[in-house]
Amino acid sequence: MKTYKQIVEENKAWLEETFAKIDKKLSAVTLRSRDKLVDGVGPDGVTHKSTPPRNWTSGFWGGMNVLMYEHTGNEDYLLTAKRSEELLDAALGDFEGLYHDVGFMWHILSGALYRITGDEKSKNRNLFAAASLMSRFVLGGNFIRAWNTARPEGEVANWTIIDCMMNLPILYWASDLIGDDRFKRVAMAHADNAIRCHIRADGSVAHIVEHDRETGDVYKFIAKNQGLNADSSWSRGQSWALYGFVLSYIHTGEKRYLDASKRVANYFIANVCDDWLPRVDFRAPAEPVYYDSTAGMCAACGLIELAKNLPEDEGGYYANAAINLLRALSEKFGDFNPDTDVMISHGTVRYPIPGVIAYEKAGVHIPIIYGEYYFVEAVLKLLGSEFNPWMSKKK
Ligand code: GLY
Repeated sequence: MKTYKQIVEENKAWLEETFAKIDKKLSAVTLRSRDKLVDGVGPDGVTHKSTPPRNWTSGFWGGMNVLMYEHTGNEDYLLTAKRSEELLDAALGDFEGLYHDVGFMWHILSGALYRITGDEKSKNRNLFAAASLMSRFVLGGNFIRAWNTARPEGEVANWTIIDCMMNLPILYWASDLIGDDRFKRVAMAHADNAIRCHIRADGSVAHIVEHDRETGDVYKFIAKNQGLNADSSWSRGQSWALYGFVLSYIHTGEKRYLDASKRVANYFIANVCDDWLPRVDFRAPAEPVYYDSTAGMCAACGLIELAKNLPEDEGGYYANAAINLLRALSEKFGDFNPDTDVMISHGTVRYPIPGVIAYEKAGVHIPIIYGEYYFVEAVLKLLGSEFNPWMSKKK
């Protein structure tokens, strides 16, 4: 098996050429979409549209601009990222509107900007977001509640979703920043419960779990939302776990998180089709084919971190898988024309199920901003960037 370094070296020309195309495109789009919290496109099918500040995807456009600023020094990207921060303030000021996704929303935007620019306002935004996430911790059960009680019967109150693994870095960051391990301990308690309740023996991952409030045990697996059913394997959920657990490992040094990430990665690689284009659910029927580019781009980031954090003789396997995903997805679904707003198409919000979720409402094969975000993050990692927005330090 080749090593991580050999694989990167072999793909260097492709990586450099791809980054040049990304920069050429985004340096134009950042000017056009500066005042938007981008997620997807409007009715003309090509022009970026904005998402409301309280949507969990609202930080990715600014976050992608932070990545581009950090790597290129082009201040246009910085201005767009700062504009995103201002627009997101409306969500930070709406306490009841917040839920567990504050890590996605602020850590890769304000947390990352603070580490690059030292701006105290960015630091405070991120600290407030971290404190709100802490406030969702359920004592006894040892988990972070995903959503608020939005239904009369209160049924979402003790739910966790695997996505939350990507929100934990903001807690590790807060502990590191203020020298107080409470935030980190809450993150680890949640991660431990997620290993116990979400990860199955074969390395696949359950999306939504309802917990016993006092013990944290699984009360039931919830069948609704983004995969095919409660026993299936929603590919983006696998990616959230794959990347989220290796990030918890890097933050804490606890090997059980590395092992969890590896287990999910092995399952992911065994189940992605030969064309390296992830389907929305790995346990869905072969037809019709529904792709999700976002699952592959996020998985690539996790696979690269695994490759970097495992012994040389193991890492190449994961680096190779990451490159296969990035090349296949960007070649099939990439648009690097600077005159159009979207760079990566064919994300899918949820699996359409006749009679349950209509195809038109499922968001199938649409541009989704975080697919692009993770694509840029992965390419920069492979080009040698040491700046990881999900970590605590600048380098
Ligand atoms: N966090 C929601 C999703 O992955 O679609």
